[in-house]
Amino acid sequence: MTTPNYPARVRLIDVGPRDGLQNEAQPVPASTKIELVQRLQAAGVQEIEVTSYVSPKWVPQMADNHAVMQGIARRAGVRYSVLVPNMRGLQAALRDRPDEIVVFGAASETFSQRNINCSIAESIERFAPVVEAARQAGIAVRGAMSCAVGCPYEGDIAPERVGALARQLKAIGVQRVDVADTIGVGTPLKVQRAIEATLAHFDLDHISGHFHDTYGQALANTLAAMQMGVWHFQCSVAGLGGCPYAPGATGNVATEDVVYLLHGLGIDTGIDLDALADTGAWISGVLGRPTGSRAGRALLAKRASGDALSCGTR
Ligand code: HMG
Ligand code: MG
Repeated sequence: MTTPNYPARVRLIDVGPRDGLQNEAQPVPASTKIELVQRLQAAGVQEIEVTSYVSPKWVPQMADNHAVMQGIARRAGVRYSVLVPNMRGLQAALRDRPDEIVVFGAASETFSQRNINCSIAESIERFAPVVEAARQAGIAVRGAMSCAVGCPYEGDIAPERVGALARQLKAIGVQRVDVADTIGVGTPLKVQRAIEATLAHFDLDHISGHFHDTYGQALANTLAAMQMGVWHFQCSVAGLGGCPYAPGATGNVATEDVVYLLHGLGIDTGIDLDALADTGAWISGVLGRPTGSRAGRALLAKRASGDALSCGTR
């Protein structure tokens, strides 16, 4: 049997504290966000997107960015990233010394306007000095490319538009990019085409997949990206999330589900799946709803029934 040439290792970036919680209607206390970060790192997650420095009028849930960043006990070897839309956001973020900032643009003009109130060209102009100042301060820079396969307002997005955005982000000094399916409409071929367009400007080590799971395709899209050699993925514990400017979109693919997939393929993640499932159950409990992770639910049910799901043993 021939097996596809998957990467030997995969690094997961849990975006639950930021992408996962930014859309929560109920205020989530900073102490809960801090505990979420602590639990994720204790489970072995090596990259965590902690918060964003955006207008509190636009995204009130992230208004406690400073308290959250100051409250976490950082672990050596863990990379803490934060979203920054402009110079004002960078100046605020610098006080908290993130390891990486994320400037976030879009391959769709309408989404760019709705999300950050400017055109794609204006966003690049706005990001350029932010990227330069971050790098001068010794902080790494990632660029998110929203709507890389589809837009809630414009529908399908051609790969050429993703390539054009990747080229512009590269030109201003962004070091790595996320191919983001913001509304989870992508299917494997579409995702592969968006990645292919990105590969003209960034190499495989500098591209990550960021797949929301609205249509249940995110795991398939992850596998399709891995077949191309992509080995960084963003995911959200318990599948938390949704974007305030992408109506109807659900959260990122659940970290537990991706870890289950990867471990099943014999790919190491450094993550303890049981501890991660506990974290997903804990945060879902705090938010008052069941976990959105299928693997998380199955693991918890299995544990609760004393291994009753081990087929044929009873
Ligand atoms: P604007 O209104 O065009 O900006 O917003 P402005 O410069 O005219 O400022 C307006 C007000 O915001 C002023 O306050 C500023 O001081 C304040 P006022 O005078 O009205 O009291 N302001 C700020 N406050 C705090 N921090 C800042 C900041 N900047 C200005 N950094 C802006 C432009 C980008 C600020 C606004 O549109 C915004 O905050 N948007 C938030 C967008 C957002 O966070 N979206 C969700 C994250 S993106 C995402 O989830 C997608 C991703 O996951 C990938 C994917 O799935 O696709 C990354
Ligand atoms: Mg997202």
